[in-house]
Amino acid sequence: MPVENIEDRINALRKERGAVIFAHNYQRGEVQDIADVVGDSLELARRAREAEAGVIVLCGVHFMAQTAAILNPQKTVLIPDVNAGCPMACMVSAKGLKEFLAEHPEAYVVSYVNTTAEIKAMSDICCTSANALKVVESVPADREIVFLPDRNLGHYITKTTGREMTLWEGFCPTHERILPEFVEAARSAHPEAELCVHPECAPSVVDMADFVGSTSQILRHCAESDRESFIIGTEIGILHTLRKLAPGKEFFPATKLADCPDMKLIALEKIFWALRDMEPRVVVPPEVAERARGALERMVEITG
Ligand code: 13P
Ligand code: SF4
Repeated sequence: MPVENIEDRINALRKERGAVIFAHNYQRGEVQDIADVVGDSLELARRAREAEAGVIVLCGVHFMAQTAAILNPQKTVLIPDVNAGCPMACMVSAKGLKEFLAEHPEAYVVSYVNTTAEIKAMSDICCTSANALKVVESVPADREIVFLPDRNLGHYITKTTGREMTLWEGFCPTHERILPEFVEAARSAHPEAELCVHPECAPSVVDMADFVGSTSQILRHCAESDRESFIIGTEIGILHTLRKLAPGKEFFPATKLADCPDMKLIALEKIFWALRDMEPRVVVPPEVAERARGALERMVEITG
């Protein structure tokens, strides 16, 4: 039978290689549609940890592929575009963190998963936006917490739990494009809609929200809510996921400017090439991976 289109070619290669395709909720619609698993950072990490397939194609950004490689070191992890990085993860270097921690020698280091493997290896525990509250609540009350790199998520955790933390001044450039005035305009245009935002947004935007959560928590909330329309304050790739999950409901972006260029580097052709050539592979040096795994496994132990 002739192989006619890119999806058929990917499907044939996926079978031949014994591969699974994982996609983050911010991926292009066509990439989400071909994936075996679509999820938030936590779900992708958990599924990677349990994956039995020999090859994982991670359609997301570099730290997500590293996390999969760390949690399941026997597997081959491919990222279809090696340039898909996360600017927030690049805002903390090993050297910078070492110098910072010299000023906070007793601190307990909580790292958002949006960090490199080297930073995870220097951390006591990791968290994602889905479990950050639980992770921070698990830290003994008498310990100083250094939270990095996302100051906005850190601010949200402190506001919600009352737990003071020393924050790294990192941020997501895509979420910081969601300005309060854009949200106001969307609310005036859709006064009946519920406002759902990601905690990577600036505090001024989070304070306006009816619901705050990780990408998959936003998805579940919108699907289960009695409301019929929603303004979404996070990266716009999630609108595809939402419209598929709840086709009868209406979803409006807080701003179309919230479009992460790194997430959008992944395309069907690149998935095909990755499966054909079995590269680019994401390999974490074993000594770094071992220490980083400790911080990730502690997160999984606490939050399931
Ligand atoms: P979550 O899917 O965990 O909410 O992550 C958001 C994000 O910005 C990932 O880069
Ligand atoms: Fe990084 Fe923000 Fe893009 Fe997520 S949306 S990958 S946090 S820049």
